[in-house]
Amino acid sequence: MDYEALASDFVLHALRREKSIIFERAQGSRLWDINGNVYLDTMSGSAGPAMVGHANPAVAEAVARQMAKLPSVNLLHDSTTLIEFCTRMASLAPAGLTKTFLCVGGGEAVEAAIKFAIRITGRSEVLSLTGAYHGQSLATMGLGGMPALRKWLPGSLRWPNFRQIPSADAYRPPLGGDPGDGRAALHALEADLDGAGSGHVAALIMELVQGPNGHSVYTSDYYRGVQQICCERGVLLIVDEIQTGLCRCGTTWACDLYDVRPDILIVGKALGGGVPIGAFTTRKDLIPKGLESEAWHMLTFMNQPLSAAAGLAVLDIMEKEKLAERARVLGQQATERFRQLAKCYDVIGDVRGPGLFVGVDFVENREHKTPATAACRKAWGFALDHGLITQFGGSASNVLKFKPPLTTPQVDFDEMLNISEETVAFIQREVDQTRRVPSVVVPANAGD
Ligand SMILES: Cc1ncc(COP(=O)(O)O)c(C=O)c1O
Repeated sequence: MDYEALASDFVLHALRREKSIIFERAQGSRLWDINGNVYLDTMSGSAGPAMVGHANPAVAEAVARQMAKLPSVNLLHDSTTLIEFCTRMASLAPAGLTKTFLCVGGGEAVEAAIKFAIRITGRSEVLSLTGAYHGQSLATMGLGGMPALRKWLPGSLRWPNFRQIPSADAYRPPLGGDPGDGRAALHALEADLDGAGSGHVAALIMELVQGPNGHSVYTSDYYRGVQQICCERGVLLIVDEIQTGLCRCGTTWACDLYDVRPDILIVGKALGGGVPIGAFTTRKDLIPKGLESEAWHMLTFMNQPLSAAAGLAVLDIMEKEKLAERARVLGQQATERFRQLAKCYDVIGDVRGPGLFVGVDFVENREHKTPATAACRKAWGFALDHGLITQFGGSASNVLKFKPPLTTPQVDFDEMLNISEETVAFIQREVDQTRRVPSVVVPANAGD
């Protein structure tokens, strides 16, 4: 069968690249394409679904069993598997979060959480951070803080009730100043909540480490300050752990790492082990009497047993295989290796991220932190030609994201790091070449 031709005739793509590959099967951290070539996956699927490894047999078995027994129920009823899943989430979630809503996508869980926050506070505005990513539905795009991801829509898709405030990005602080100092960003949050947003803001939603923005991290006083400012003003803190949660950062939640106590925690991706999933967990005392009988939210696939079976299987694997510890061990190996490389390759501007959630920020110039975007674009293809699935994120697409399955065997992990090292050397060569060529001044009206 000519899959290439069929794909271009019949699949409606997004993000299509010249080198897009057609895969046939996967196991653990490896995928095979239709020509039998093998690839190592440093992205765990799209940054998470394969956190417990691709095609994990325990997940496959649990899902197949549930599919044969009870895949779905009418929305007005519950199932034993769902109840078991939500009970399990309550035992794992950060302190005080005990009630879970389950659905089939991360962005869908964000939307549900936002609606919930607006409904229970009676306030209609929601804040997010610059650099944020919370999904691509119409509403969640409005919470996005990466302009490149929404500028192609008319008006950049802005909702009057959603706005972004500057984050405390510790490498490229949007407000300038000392990169290690989050105080300016805290003042910006206070100024919004006490000014424009006064009394109208239901919630602040944030990732504790911004995944799609290139693993941007903050200082610990920023996390503390955000919690205090929100708490004093009755603004709910929604933490999006769709990428950082479930052991990825070396603890069950990134919340544990930074001592953050959210009112609402959102998970997705890894929780399904490949089955589409999203969920949010919140405090019981926040739920007004009667809300659970209202149609405050309604989805055909909400709270369904098939998703719950996948979630339960992943949570089992996470605990049995001590994935938090594995993330710490592998994460340290990766971080150490990239930091060593930074001593020889000056295109590495920063290596950051907790656990096995590593970001390597490539720059043309360390002093000015100019993103090495063009070289990274080519490096993606270079890595793929060498059997490595990678992705470069951040608003300038210059941050190598390194977050393979937490179950990756050491031999595959070492190979991932070896090919990554070759990729770093490739980026250095590309950037060195442009340094030798005097830059061409493009007339102002000649751009595309
Ligand atoms: C931090 C974060 N939030 C939300 C989402 C949206 O999840 P989904 O793509 O499952 O809708 C993503 C997806 O990349 C994400 O990384």
